[in-house]
Amino acid sequence: MKKKFYVTTPIYYVNDVPHIGHAYTTIAADILARYNRLINRDVFSLTGTDEHGQKVEKAAQGKGKTPKEHADLMVKNFKNLWERLSISNDAFIRTTDDEHKMVVQELLQKLYDNGEILKRTYSGWYCTPDERFWTEKEVVEGKCPDCGRPVEHIEEDNYFFLMSKYQERLIKYIEDNPSYILPETRRNEVLGFLKNNTLGDLCISRPRHRLSWGIPLPFDENFVTYVWFDALVNYFSATKYLVPPSHPPLSKGGQGGGDDWWPADHHLIGKDILTTHAVYWSTMLMALKLPLPKNIFAHGWWTIEGKKMSKSLGNVVDPYEIVDKYGVDAFRYFLFREVPFGLDGDFSEQALINRINTDLANDLGNLLSRFLAMAVKYFEGKIEMSKSLEEFKVYCVKSLVGAMDEQNWSHLRFNLILENIWNIVSETNNLIAREEPWKLAKDNQARLKDVMYSIWNSLRIIAFLVYPFMPSTAERMWRQLGLKSLTEEVRDGLPGIFSWDWKPAYEIKVSKGEHLFPRIETKEAK
Ligand code: MSP
Repeated sequence: MKKKFYVTTPIYYVNDVPHIGHAYTTIAADILARYNRLINRDVFSLTGTDEHGQKVEKAAQGKGKTPKEHADLMVKNFKNLWERLSISNDAFIRTTDDEHKMVVQELLQKLYDNGEILKRTYSGWYCTPDERFWTEKEVVEGKCPDCGRPVEHIEEDNYFFLMSKYQERLIKYIEDNPSYILPETRRNEVLGFLKNNTLGDLCISRPRHRLSWGIPLPFDENFVTYVWFDALVNYFSATKYLVPPSHPPLSKGGQGGGDDWWPADHHLIGKDILTTHAVYWSTMLMALKLPLPKNIFAHGWWTIEGKKMSKSLGNVVDPYEIVDKYGVDAFRYFLFREVPFGLDGDFSEQALINRINTDLANDLGNLLSRFLAMAVKYFEGKIEMSKSLEEFKVYCVKSLVGAMDEQNWSHLRFNLILENIWNIVSETNNLIAREEPWKLAKDNQARLKDVMYSIWNSLRIIAFLVYPFMPSTAERMWRQLGLKSLTEEVRDGLPGIFSWDWKPAYEIKVSKGEHLFPRIETKEAK
């Protein structure tokens, strides 16, 4: 039976126009999804939108629309961008889906019936834009400690999820499962927070008179659900109704989808929403007696040319604009090569151009076009399936193993994986410099054949290794190398196709193609 793999992105607020931060997480999830499909796992990759809450309600009012009409329009911004960025998500969840709302209500009812939710009078400071309460101690001079905007004092009845009683269990769980929260610095942060503070209970309702755009509590219609409670449940509710028919139930007698897809392998999130996931979501699942996800990975943030990205600074990076200018694959590559996933990074067009010109145009693109030109010149494009040069093979196989290492993938070390792939690229360039095929063509045809096969084989391996990061580049390489469709062929040729000297059963004839990454000429890059 195929191993299953389930990866999620945060569900994005519909009010925002998608920016580089949204693109970052979603591309990361796509890299994982594509890689896991490649190695023959049954993959479910999920993204979506978070559509309830006060902000959406207000924005809709401002436009004279109902919240749902407003959300319907805004959702398109995300769906279109994912298509443009070659995101291969299996499903798109919206918290306004009826099925999702039903699951939220079911879970709330279950918690309520089990005494995990209680009604209490609450008095505290409320930040309307952030839709969250703060305690007296947390408020800074009448302002929200998070966004700095004024808070208002509110006293009202509300429902509370008894989160505090899970504090010790959560600490133990995180300690016992070292890769539950990654990277390690974030794990330590959460542990530090849990060990040095007393966890409170979580207010999970909002009175309807203040907020109507939400999911009603099944046990009290005067309240709607706090937006985070509703949003976090998406990861679970999606497994109940969005698993496509191509993903059959894994256990015998399953109803299709169902609990079989829970728990997720990875929740990818930004560092700012770690507490909601690591603390709220984990304890909610404990109370529901559901398994916890296998991993929550909190990535860093991008600054833009050294500055925080913000609407007021006018420096918000629009992914559409970047990919129109530089191409989707270059953008996808840059984001994961430039900065280790988990750390903060700085984005600038110049840094992107530098990566394109060096890693992509020079190292990779030139390698392929030089090889194709030589193959056409010396062998009319025909590549004889011989064997790789031994020393070259030994060196490259180490990097191939590194690029497919289970630990590297389960710890999302994308930059290390790319480093391994580029080791093979460099070593293949070195091979050409060392062997000088143009000389061999004159006096050593036998060696020339081995050298050319070695390069062909190495480029073939590079093609499938870059596939998760740069899917269309990989397909183009694969075809220029005289092979059929990468994804189909990989699936048909498993597992041997990943080994160094795999050979197709058909004759290989290559022809010169378009350069993969034309160099970008700018004043600085010259
Ligand atoms: N709706 C919630 C998530 C609910 S998940 C159950 C939410 N939505 S969001 O639209 O604000 O999400 C934004 C995502 O983009 C977060 O993961 C955040 O970390 C990420 N980023 C926002 N700005 C960013 C950068 N400058 N750099 C990288 N990621 C950033 O939060």
